Amino acid sequence: MNHVRAAAAKNIKNAVEQMRNMNTIIRNADEEDAVCQAADILRRGGLVAFPTETVYGLGGNGLDPLACRRIYAAKGRPSDNPLILHIASKEQLMEIVSMVPPVAQRAMDAFWPGPLTLVFQKAQCVPLSVTGGLDTVAVRFPSHPLAQRLIRKAGLPIAAPSANSSGKPSPTRASHVEFDLSGKIDMILDGGPCQVGLESTILDVSGKTPVLLRPGAVTKEMIEMAIGPISIDPAVFAKPAEGILPKAPGMKYTHYSPKAAVTLVEGTSLALVVERINELVVEAQAQGKKVGVMATEQTKQMYTGGVVLSLGDRNQPAAIGANLFKLLRKFDYLNIDVVYSEVFPETDEGMAIMNRLNKAAGYTKIHCG
Ligand code: TXA
Ligand code: MG
Repeated sequence: MNHVRAAAAKNIKNAVEQMRNMNTIIRNADEEDAVCQAADILRRGGLVAFPTETVYGLGGNGLDPLACRRIYAAKGRPSDNPLILHIASKEQLMEIVSMVPPVAQRAMDAFWPGPLTLVFQKAQCVPLSVTGGLDTVAVRFPSHPLAQRLIRKAGLPIAAPSANSSGKPSPTRASHVEFDLSGKIDMILDGGPCQVGLESTILDVSGKTPVLLRPGAVTKEMIEMAIGPISIDPAVFAKPAEGILPKAPGMKYTHYSPKAAVTLVEGTSLALVVERINELVVEAQAQGKKVGVMATEQTKQMYTGGVVLSLGDRNQPAAIGANLFKLLRKFDYLNIDVVYSEVFPETDEGMAIMNRLNKAAGYTKIHCG
């Protein structure tokens, strides 16, 4: 086994060497033939970042182990963290999975195309370099018209993790991809900002009961309306205990972390939270730190110090989700050292928002009141 691992590490090292200082083509997706050029690059084994309705993906030929190794290398991603295969028709699914259970069919009928990824038993043609050695494969049929056109033109299932450097917040704009991956990938297809702004919901339908592995815009409540009760992997709510592996390998890694140390502040009322954050800002500034506050429209005027950025209206969780990664990146660009953030109720879309916020904060939370 050790020599297999050593060979994989050598392959990734070689792929990195080849990619250093590549000339990354950046094209507006509206330009004539931009999608054709991107599809051509994918067919020839290259890497193209493209927009989906959730976040930008870093695409490569999902049936080509070498293209997949290039993806891991460009992102600096551990090779045991599997990739999602993107398709542009339900028929394409049959080529990459070994069976479609009835519960999966119902979920597909309700939510595809859209921001729901399903985990199936894989077909033989799917390389282990896509699945991180697992016998299951995650599949997504995005609703973004540009993503669909690109996948169709390439005529392949496209492996695409989020197009960020591993561990950084997912990119919701082409400029975010450029910042992280310019010089390491062949092309960025700029299709404007992503509408959802948080990665897809992941539901494992490969076992007896469906399990929610990652919350997203397709909420637990929506899924249960369509297919009945599901369970939730504990890694969605809490840092996995030492030695316990979450079912989505990606959930074990530090994620979405800006350079700043993020702390969440919760309390019995919003007024108390604001008051506590104002105190924390003063304390951190006294230590010479550059401080940021992640506020909402309801509270932004109530903060007395620090760089205050608003996530949006608390009553519009979809807007909060769409802004979250953009704001985390903005604090980085502003060289902020510490960020204090408000929290949100964990129901409906709030579950996905809090899952990402908790990870950004490394589960650091202060309770007041
Ligand atoms: O919205 C999205 O899903 C975006 C866009 C580009 O489609 N993609 C995305 O991919 O978020 P990525 O690689 O950043 O996250 C994929 C997650 C990881 O946590 C990974 O561990 C999990 O999916 N995953 C992939 N294959 C899996 C499998 N066979 N079983 C369990 N989890 C899996
Ligand atoms: Mg990711």
